[in-house]
Parts: sequence; C-alpha cells; structure tokens
Amino acid sequence: MSKIIIAIDGPAASGKSTAAKFLAEKLGFTYLDTGAMYRAITYLAIEKDITDNQNAVIDLVRNLKINLRFENGITKVFIDGKEVTDFIRSKDVNASVSKISKIPEVRSELVKIQQKIANNGSIVAEGRDTTTVVFPNADVKIYLTAKEDVRANRRLNEYLKDNIEISFEEVKNNLHERDKIDSSREVSPLTKSKEAIELDTTGISVEEELEKILEIIDKVVKEKKNYHQVN
Ligand code: DC
Repeated sequence: MSKIIIAIDGPAASGKSTAAKFLAEKLGFTYLDTGAMYRAITYLAIEKDITDNQNAVIDLVRNLKINLRFENGITKVFIDGKEVTDFIRSKDVNASVSKISKIPEVRSELVKIQQKIANNGSIVAEGRDTTTVVFPNADVKIYLTAKEDVRANRRLNEYLKDNIEISFEEVKNNLHERDKIDSSREVSPLTKSKEAIELDTTGISVEEELEKILEIIDKVVKEKKNYHQVN
C-alpha cells in the first residue's frame, strides 16, 4: 500500500482531534481537520450576517479560498490569505456550525476540497462523514464515542484552558444540540459506517485511547497486507 487513508468519525468532543493529530504526527501523514472547514465557513457567514440566507452561504462557499496548515499541534485556517484560526472555535461558531453544515451545497463543495487534499499523499482525516462520504474507501475507519457527560467535561476543560467563561450546562446543551442536528440531517448524517471499528473512550485515559487506536491500525493494516498477498 503506497498511500494510506485513515478516517476517524464521531460526535463532538469524542477525542477525534487528539487521536488524529497524534497519528498524523507519529506516522508523518497530513492531518485533515474537516470540522475546521465547516467552522471557517460558519465564521465567515456570521461575520457577513448571512447565517439565515442559504443562497448567500452557498455563494460564499463556492467562492471560498481556504487553506489549512497544521503547525505546532494546531490547525491554522486561512481564508483568502487571512488567518481566522482564533475565531473558528468561538461560542458563536459552535452555536451555528451545525445549521451551516446541513446545507447540501456547503457539504459538496467542502468534500471536493477534502478529497483533493488526499490526492497528495497519506492522510489522517477526522470529521462526521469522513468514513462514509469523503473517504468511503479509507484503509482504516474508526468511530470514536464517549458518554455525553464525559464529552461535555472535556470540552468545558478546553474552554477553561482558553479562559472562556461558560457553564457545564451550556457546554452540554450545545454538544447535545449539535449531535442531534449532525446525526439527523438529511445529507451525510453522522453515522457509524459498517466497516468502522468503534472505540468508546469513556473512562479511559488519552494514553490508553491512543494505544488502542495504534493497535487497531496495526491490525487493520496487517490484515490488508495479508489480503493483498493472498489475492
Ligand atoms: O469536529 P468539530 O467539532 O470541529 O466540527 C464542528 C461542526 O462541523 C460539527 O458540529 C458538524 C460539522 N462537521 C460536519 O458536518 N462534517 C464534518 N466532516 C466535520 C464537521
């Protein structure tokens, strides 16, 4: 296998980013944070005050010049050359991103960009539809989950680290709402594809999570090699 695609899906704060970044660095693969793209277009729509105007959002995404650069552990996002990294994880973006991500044309445009990035070499992609729609032929598919309270706590700690004031209840409600919209939308809903290996990270440490993921990858890649040798 010359080029490898690892795809990781799962609900909000299930540990996808931590796992995907770790794997990309360890394996020397490109890290593709598809959520950052949906966040960037949402940020732009908020800036332009067009979140309720689907046609204007579609226009925006069709003319989008977006660049992702993974540096020092974070995905830097640039739109038309202007860095927006600091704005895309705000509470406002969190509150509107699922609504924008539901628009089919937004999805098809961003999926095209994501697939193009994978043409350049091996990647680790994370999102809601990377194992199902973006990379249906991914070599390794992982579906991460964790109990809602555990995920809300993780997200709360991230906010606190960034000195953002927010209550546990508010974080949990936002997570719950996003998961509901992301899982029930008509186009590319968050679902576990049948080939994906599910890993529940409730009650396990980050180190254990990463160890288990490496085991999964090792096993799948070895199985694929054997399969290719036999056939
Ligand atoms: O992974 P994240 O929290 O940064 O994603 C933010 C939102 O973007 C998520 O609530 C739904 C949307 N999203 C999506 O619809 N499809 C993806 N592949 C990635 C994210």
